[in-house]
Amino acid sequence: MSRSLDEIKIIPRHIAIIMDGNGRWAKERGLPRTEGHRIGADSVSEVVEECGKLGVEFLTLYAFSSENWKRPKREVSALMTLLERFLKTKTAEMLEKNVRLQAIGRLHDLPKSCQEQLHRSIEKTSQCTGLTLILALSYGAREEIVDGIKSLLESVEKGHLDKAMIDNDIFAKHLYTRYYPDPDLLIRTSGELRISNFMLWQISYTEFYVTETLWPDFRKEALHLAVKAYGQRQRRFGAI
Ligand code: IPE
Ligand code: IPE
Ligand code: MG
Repeated sequence: MSRSLDEIKIIPRHIAIIMDGNGRWAKERGLPRTEGHRIGADSVSEVVEECGKLGVEFLTLYAFSSENWKRPKREVSALMTLLERFLKTKTAEMLEKNVRLQAIGRLHDLPKSCQEQLHRSIEKTSQCTGLTLILALSYGAREEIVDGIKSLLESVEKGHLDKAMIDNDIFAKHLYTRYYPDPDLLIRTSGELRISNFMLWQISYTEFYVTETLWPDFRKEALHLAVKAYGQRQRRFGAI
């Protein structure tokens, strides 16, 4: 068993990761950015497997943001192809490892074949009872909040909800993440100290961990370090 596992005693129920640094990883090696994304997909497989083994219940991976559509067409298209291939080739493994796949974001923005593959993989793994893997795709937290407000207004207009009843819990039920608990630990790779439009509502009391490690190098030992650091935090939620 890996040495780095020895000191892990507290396991976050929900880990969210801003998987960043694929481009820089490739650049350091004189490779095209897409090579960084390709190797980054191997990190995804390893981190998913390890989270399952550790007993993490939910893992949210920020894979493509609302703003990432602004990237060159070729890079966007390479990312979409990679996503589709990942889902196609890894669904059997998810089933075998009891991983239930879910997705959040404006999924209807994804290319048709990608959407279809995504829904097939979600459907196939829907009975799995181990780790829930949530892919954030064409996801933006501001977009999610706007969609949530529209959904709330619709409920009020239809008479299903009284405006006076709206509180934090009811609002949260109108977000993409309504089925999941808030993240306990948010990891960002590659050293950037920003949120980049990720889960603005849900991370109110999430513990933040930033590592210089670039995503393609983020493997199980790096995950263990993050989880260990989480175990040393004292969460107070505003109390003393
Ligand atoms: C993360 O790596 C992958 C996506 C955002 C899709 P980047 O592509 O952002 O890599 P850097 O930040 O340019 O190194
Ligand atoms: C955040 O990374 C989005 C994902 C990891 C999918 P970016 O690379 O897009 O973020 P910025 O542009 O550096 O803030
Ligand atoms: Mg980046």
